[in-house]
Amino acid sequence: MCGIMGYVGPQQAGPILIDGLKRLEYRGYDSAGIAVSNGDIRVMKAQGKIANLEALVDGDQPTGNVGIGHTRWATHGAPTDANAHPHTDPSGEFVVVHNGIIENFQDIKTELAELGAEFASDTDTELLAHLVAREYDGDLVEAVRRTVALSEGAYAMVVMSTREPETIVAVRKISPLVVGLGDGETYLASDIPAVLHHTRDFLIIEDDEMVIVTSEGATVETIDGDSVERDAIHIDWDAGQAEKGGYEHFMLKEIHEQPDVITETLGGRISEDGSVWLEDVAFDDAYIAGLDRVWITACGTAFHAGLIGQEIFRRVLRLPANVEYAHELRYADPIIGPRELMIAISQSGETADTLAAARVAPDHGSRMLAITNVVGSTLSRYADDVLYTRAGPEISVASTKAYMAMLIAQYLLALRLGAARGTVNEQQAQAVAHGLHRLPAAIEEVLGNEDEAIAAAAAITDADDVYFIGRGLDYAIAMEGSLKLKEISYLHSEAMPAGELKHGTLALITEGVPVVVILTQRDVYDKTISAIQEVKARGGRILAVAYDTDEEIDTYADLVMRIPDMDDLLAPVAAVVPLQLLAYHVARLRGHDIDQPRNLAKSVTVE
Ligand code: AGP
Repeated sequence: MCGIMGYVGPQQAGPILIDGLKRLEYRGYDSAGIAVSNGDIRVMKAQGKIANLEALVDGDQPTGNVGIGHTRWATHGAPTDANAHPHTDPSGEFVVVHNGIIENFQDIKTELAELGAEFASDTDTELLAHLVAREYDGDLVEAVRRTVALSEGAYAMVVMSTREPETIVAVRKISPLVVGLGDGETYLASDIPAVLHHTRDFLIIEDDEMVIVTSEGATVETIDGDSVERDAIHIDWDAGQAEKGGYEHFMLKEIHEQPDVITETLGGRISEDGSVWLEDVAFDDAYIAGLDRVWITACGTAFHAGLIGQEIFRRVLRLPANVEYAHELRYADPIIGPRELMIAISQSGETADTLAAARVAPDHGSRMLAITNVVGSTLSRYADDVLYTRAGPEISVASTKAYMAMLIAQYLLALRLGAARGTVNEQQAQAVAHGLHRLPAAIEEVLGNEDEAIAAAAAITDADDVYFIGRGLDYAIAMEGSLKLKEISYLHSEAMPAGELKHGTLALITEGVPVVVILTQRDVYDKTISAIQEVKARGGRILAVAYDTDEEIDTYADLVMRIPDMDDLLAPVAAVVPLQLLAYHVARLRGHDIDQPRNLAKSVTVE
């Protein structure tokens, strides 16, 4: 889970690499470094954020037109200058950056040490530099190929050498890697937005492929040496989408983009009468009619989106639906039949656990549908069918707009499946379509109530613990609200079904302890009110998320965050927004680095 950059061309490589690393900082930011070659290689690296690296090179830019760079999220070794990438072999002639984990790290290290090697860092990456140097006999590509054969794990690595100074060699084994094609210059990066301001034409490198990069372009081969014909793809994203657009933080910008994200994700896929067309979903009505079960797998916020999906699929399709954490499912030896659909949800499409769990489906002969935000991501390529979420690049580590798009995608899918199974009639489909089309305006309304979230944030910012409760779909929203608060405000919180409170956690509710209650599900409203009364009786404070038509809640709540009245089935889309804003404003009051919370990275590409 690190960011990789590379450049070969007529310009000075240093500034281009640092600029790209800044755009990749969300992938890891505990240290960063660059290596630039003008025949000799100069390595500069610094612990901490990329600003430290910038300060280091300020006035002392390394000169050269070829270079590689890296921003790190530590897996082997503490985040120190010494452990920062790039790493070299002892001669300094071979330099490597790497993303991922070399699983047989200890065996390689022992073997090299027995041959007398000494190491300058604690990293697995340095071992790769030693191996490439050892394997080099006049051909860098072959040296890298032999190094890959010796190195187990999931990773991407990029190698540069004084011996072949005009070339960069890179390998992808699971961790993402793209090549940006310029005019007489070529870029390498972990993802497209890092170099989108330089070029819009990209080669996506697949698993077990190598790419040989020069200023003239790139040649793709398999790790085994077979040549690969790869067409470039042209990216239409607006580079401005990846900027903050006037907001103080990307997270706030992304929260405010959600009405547009809904419109985008629905665009061209659903008509007024509720018929749905999903462009990259190939299965037909006969397949859908024969389905016995739906599985959903994901991690973190994507898992919480899956909790909503599970409930929607059960209600709309009257089919068993299970959502499972990907890191659990991959080792759970699940019983999955060929008539069961696996849905893997991942914003990045690169989450290692989700990729592994998604692969369980084909092993059982069942189909896998990916819901992802990143075109060309690994998950999208593993999948039989893909439903892209169209949220645009999400920069803030705390996911908001991508979550929203995942919910919308699942409503669309439920309508598509429900129509084919005959569990959704025309009238119902039309009503849901109407509700979906009204959501952007409804979310604008919720965003207009931001002051309520600001007041709620002020009320809990000094708390030690916060509890989130709800029932059914409200419980799924409670889970996401709690995670958002934890990850950016560092305030301890827990979410649970409202009915569970009295089975233990109630012991922690004392005078002033805040409990956030979500109340959008009318069929269980009174039951949730009972839980509120249990909290009130112990002196707890109630912060509620409720419809603007709900007057009863004023009797119980210390503070209410309002959403417009709507169909309970669609309410999660609106109810999550005040909780995103609540988390944001608590983190802001606490003075935290909101877009890059401590210990977290945007894309978790290691297990
Ligand atoms: C969300 O705020 C988190 N940063 C995290 O839980 C994230 O949702 C999770 O790591 C899954 O990521 P993915 O959607 O890219 O697979």
